[in-house]
Amino acid sequence: MCDGPRLAPCLVFVCTTVATETLVGVEVVTTGLEVQPDATAAWYDLLSDTERSRANRFASGRDRRRYIVARARLRQLLGERLRVPAAAVELSSGPNGKPALAGRFACSDLRFNTSHCEDVAAYAFAQGREVGIDIERLRVMSDADTLASRFFSDGERAAYEALPPAGRPLGFFESWTRKEAFIKALGEGLDHPFDDIDTRQWQMMRFAPAPGFVGALVIERRPAWQQQ
Ligand SMILES: CC(C)(COP(=O)(O)OP(=O)(O)OC[C@H]1O[C@@H](n2cnc3c(N)ncnc32)[C@H](O)[C@@H]1OP(=O)(O)O)[C@@H](O)C(=O)NCCC(=O)NCCS
Repeated sequence: MCDGPRLAPCLVFVCTTVATETLVGVEVVTTGLEVQPDATAAWYDLLSDTERSRANRFASGRDRRRYIVARARLRQLLGERLRVPAAAVELSSGPNGKPALAGRFACSDLRFNTSHCEDVAAYAFAQGREVGIDIERLRVMSDADTLASRFFSDGERAAYEALPPAGRPLGFFESWTRKEAFIKALGEGLDHPFDDIDTRQWQMMRFAPAPGFVGALVIERRPAWQQQ
């Protein structure tokens, strides 16, 4: 059962099931986060007390609305997959903040991750395999070179520095979202040593969440015995 239909739709809503040769069984959903202020109450009703407290701490009304819609939409999407109302979904946070199913849903095989940037949110779902997702709006960042030299691996940095200036913003965000998606699949923080990640255990793909945005999705590989 899903309590979605009574809610006002977001301005942008795209549902994409990613089922390529290499990434079978991962679902990616992207949602626009802008709703009219008077439509926010219905979304707010779906949140837990903890989420409502967090929503109420946002100083900016726009950021508060975006948080409410992003979180309520996550609950809706999880509720559809678990066949329970959105408000009944129980969530907890890992040590570095990665949300996970909790309570009576803790034993579910459903894995998920979310990312939001400005007025767009993206959600990834998979059965029994960890996922990480990251989206960013493509833009010129004055500190991109500094961030690349601080966070990119030697290979990534060399590839980034070899790009012509016009190609650097895209090159930067493709590497950045991939790195963040890996970190988020692991449930770690940005200080996680990237060289430690055994990339043979993970698959990665890029996707376009919305015009002007770049996205990366990382999913745990199936063990060999589960592969067809
Ligand atoms: C997780 C992290 C990579 C998110 O990056 P971001 O680009 O700023 O934000 P995104 O929109 O892509 O992702 C945010 C969402 O990812 C999820 N998330 C938060 N922490 C996460 C983690 N460690 N792993 C996976 N997912 C996480 C949440 O759903 C969050 O949404 P919410 O804030 O509405 O709850 C970054 O914030 C980070 O490094 N966090 C870890 C903090 C940390 O290391 N803490 C150490 C303990 S004090």
